[in-house]
Amino acid sequence: MTTTDSFVRIVEVGARDGLQNEKTMLPTPTKIALIDRLSATGLKTIEATSFVSPKWVPQLADAAEVLAGIRKVPGVSYPVLVPNLTGYQRARKAGASEIAVFTAASEAFNRKNINASIDESIERFLPVLDRAKADGIAVRGYVSTVLGCPYQGEVPVSDVVRVARRLHELGCHEISLGDTIGVGTPAKARAMLHAVAGEVPMTALAVHFHNTYGQALANILACLDEGVRVIDSSVSGTGGCPYAKGATGNVASEDVVYMLDGLGMHTGVNLELLIATGAWLAGQLHKPTASLVNRARSGPQAVSGEA
Ligand code: HMG
Ligand code: MG
Repeated sequence: MTTTDSFVRIVEVGARDGLQNEKTMLPTPTKIALIDRLSATGLKTIEATSFVSPKWVPQLADAAEVLAGIRKVPGVSYPVLVPNLTGYQRARKAGASEIAVFTAASEAFNRKNINASIDESIERFLPVLDRAKADGIAVRGYVSTVLGCPYQGEVPVSDVVRVARRLHELGCHEISLGDTIGVGTPAKARAMLHAVAGEVPMTALAVHFHNTYGQALANILACLDEGVRVIDSSVSGTGGCPYAKGATGNVASEDVVYMLDGLGMHTGVNLELLIATGAWLAGQLHKPTASLVNRARSGPQAVSGEA
């Protein structure tokens, strides 16, 4: 890796992907405090919440209150997840200035997650993308199950390429490739990214690994070698999709930043502040942190989840 391309942008998804699968309902002020703490670490992109159906994801029913309550630090963006036009309208009313739409490379997963086929979900995005363009709102696109599906099993790389290309053609400025259930291994992750980068510029791609099988950091390293420079991660390694059975949390942001620091790459993120935030979050959730860096640095508090 050369120093000229050593900046890596971390997309912190803990307040959204991290919390959406949590059984412990966090009070709204705690979610706001989490995002405000993350804003102080130097992160440039913090996914704040999700304007999906509160019946499907009760934990994020307070999306509007969270977005209204956070301190919006200049230079930091706070995108929110939006599944349809209803979600877009709610997000805009709450002051969102960046959004993310989401679909999958697997039909079976998409049906469970958003009750639509891949093509139907993209149809739903068309009015959202039109409105976003008119409103000057940047749209990220997620493709889930890029390395395997909990219902379908293998997912052909050609399906990942097709969906990623379509989202890019429709105007998504960045496409995040999600290993939703964390089954990928480095060579497969790299080959998948290579194939997508044949159709969508690498500068418009991000990788999003869940750590179910402990492969996330290795996968990230392989994808960095392939040229990606945007990485999604979740403070304290919280998270998982409620509609992907068996999925655990995202790769922990602390672990990613520690590795990147060690590689001499730059994120602009203060690791100590991130560790403190991860340990604090583990306490709020009354569960041990999933970040090994946090365990090593914070001691018993982060391991037991005691506040
Ligand atoms: P549906 O039931 O098919 O929706 O759900 P519908 O359009 O038939 O509407 C049913 C009811 O929901 C109606 O209300 C709508 O108004 C309401 P009712 O008439 O019954 O009172 N509704 C909404 N309410 C609030 N906000 C909305 C909204 N839309 C409809 N936006 C729907 C379809 C997409 C809404 C639902 O399936 C849903 O919300 N799914 C979200 C699931 C989810 O959030 N999953 C996790 C995020 S994806 C992920 O984690 C993967 C990722 O991290 C990457 C990776 O790891 O791979 C991104
Ligand atoms: Mg995810």
